[in-house]
Amino acid sequence: MPVKGEAGCRKDFDDKRIKSGQQTSLKRLLVLGAVLLATLGFFLRKRFALETAQSYALCSTNGKQIHLVDEQNSQVECLVVRGAYIQDVGDLADIQQRWTYNKEKALPVYHAKPGSIIVPGMSDSHAHILEYGASRIIPLEQGQTIKEVVKSVRDYIVSDPDINNNKSKLVQGWGWDHTVWPEGRWPNADDLDADPVIHGRPVILQSKDGHAIWVSRATLNDNGPYPEHVEGGLFIDNAQDLIHKPEATDTDLNGLFSITVRDALASGLTSIHDAALAPESLAFFKRKAEEGTLPIRIYGMTYFNESGEYWGDSILPLINAGNGRLHCRSVKMFADGALRTGGAALYEPYTDNPTTNGVMRMPPEMINKVIPRFLQDGWQVNVHAIGDRANGIVLDAFEKALSGVDVPTLRPRLEHAQLLTEADMKRVGKLGVIASVQPTHVIDDMWYAEERLGPERVKRLYAFRSLVDNKAKITLGSDAPVEGINPLAGFYAAITRLSKDGTSPRGPDGWFPEQRLTRQEALRGMTIDPAYASFTESTLGSLVPGKRADFVILSQDIMSVAVDKILETRVVATVLDGRPVYGSFL
Ligand SMILES: *[C@@H]1O[C@H](CO)[C@@H](O)[C@H](O)[C@H]1NC(C)=O
Ligand SMILES: *[C@@H]1O[C@H](CO)[C@@H](O)[C@H](O)[C@H]1NC(C)=O
Ligand SMILES: [Zn+2]
Repeated sequence: MPVKGEAGCRKDFDDKRIKSGQQTSLKRLLVLGAVLLATLGFFLRKRFALETAQSYALCSTNGKQIHLVDEQNSQVECLVVRGAYIQDVGDLADIQQRWTYNKEKALPVYHAKPGSIIVPGMSDSHAHILEYGASRIIPLEQGQTIKEVVKSVRDYIVSDPDINNNKSKLVQGWGWDHTVWPEGRWPNADDLDADPVIHGRPVILQSKDGHAIWVSRATLNDNGPYPEHVEGGLFIDNAQDLIHKPEATDTDLNGLFSITVRDALASGLTSIHDAALAPESLAFFKRKAEEGTLPIRIYGMTYFNESGEYWGDSILPLINAGNGRLHCRSVKMFADGALRTGGAALYEPYTDNPTTNGVMRMPPEMINKVIPRFLQDGWQVNVHAIGDRANGIVLDAFEKALSGVDVPTLRPRLEHAQLLTEADMKRVGKLGVIASVQPTHVIDDMWYAEERLGPERVKRLYAFRSLVDNKAKITLGSDAPVEGINPLAGFYAAITRLSKDGTSPRGPDGWFPEQRLTRQEALRGMTIDPAYASFTESTLGSLVPGKRADFVILSQDIMSVAVDKILETRVVATVLDGRPVYGSFL
């Protein structure tokens, strides 16, 4: 099938033309009506007819509970949906006055349950789509000890006859977290092979942060030879390449993807920015988009391997494939490592390990060479930068590359933007760079961050309020599967800076509460801001007539409910292109 993106855009304009045509004819009618008011009064009640089968109005029950997330943060009572688009918004009486379905029939009006609210479809600005699916196959992250993790692998094998009955079938999982185990050691192959069900089977288990793999004896025997220091079944960072993983089949990819789609739609997400697409994953999503079977919007960042070749001039950015569902016009590169593992590049040494400042994964010369090239070749450049030094070096490169160009046509992003100097927070705002931040990381990292960075420097970590006050553009994400995929968990973390049980290392007001976002900022950070960060703000991100009808009904008002109730919010329905794809409002 041909790529239908262009058609999608044209339809958008057609809708507007239809509407303005109708407005012109209304004006004529009004003039006529004024002249013949006494006798032809019924003309005044003439309404616009919507003839698309999927036209309907959806209204809130207790007043104006639809958050448009337009420039004024308006709230209205009703939306009119025509096919895949928002046709109109307003009060119920106005809507009923303005619209009919066919000439005679009233437009169907659905009423959301009392207490619920409607917001634009939510977007995750930074997640790893297929990796999230992989992390859900075996619930490894729930294991509080090595034994519990091994038991979850055993339970998984026993639950699936295809695997249970075939001892040579590879068992793969993702998500174990040794930092929560009491054992205080890395796991090894014998931990797996001690279990009689697992014994002798090939098993590959990826750690939660993606930096280590843990394998069984059979997998060890199938690979190798190994250098002396990497025996025992545990491979960290580059040593992971010593274990060969079979290429995923289409069936495997479909399996992983459907898990992510299921959880994403059930959480109110209608769009995900994939923060490092492998070529195979992009090809898979592209096939789905072209078949017209992509069930969620994807904004892809193609991974740039700093040890590989430059490809920005040999591959074309992909814009608007699959009727607006798939875009891949950005590149993702990694400037440094992570704070938890001490890999984030800092100006000053780590407070808890003064022998190191962390490491740049890409040297500054390479950053300065590659960023302008990608920008010139038409790619949005999204750089993983965690430490203040990494962020500073990337901002230097952005600043040079952006001088004299129209920044909104390029919109470069700092992925994570965790620790910045005061001067760099100002610079992010001044340059128009987007800070793509993950609020759930705040409430994970707050427990160890001060020890690692010291009492002064830590104030600049996850300083969301300072970024916004410096006029930085922000956008919110989860980094799933490193964190959960639920966007409301990010909303809660951004506005409270408290763990789920209401605590923080700095007391019940939150961890550096002066850095909290407002609810309105957090809502924008999950809707219109990700749309801007993915060049889709003209069709997505707010419920403005002419845009795609992507919206979510939430069981309660997250904009006013007590903060300790926010995480009880349920998604009643998720609507994509005008149709419910999770739950129902009918
Ligand atoms: C068992 O699994 C292996 C590896 O996936 C496969 O090659 C083999 O055909 C399977 N055997 C049976 C009997 O299904
Ligand atoms: C990056 O490229 C190098 C050199 O071509 C290769 O050895 C390595 O496996 C690649 N890494 C990834 C994650 O693709
Ligand atoms: Zn990530």
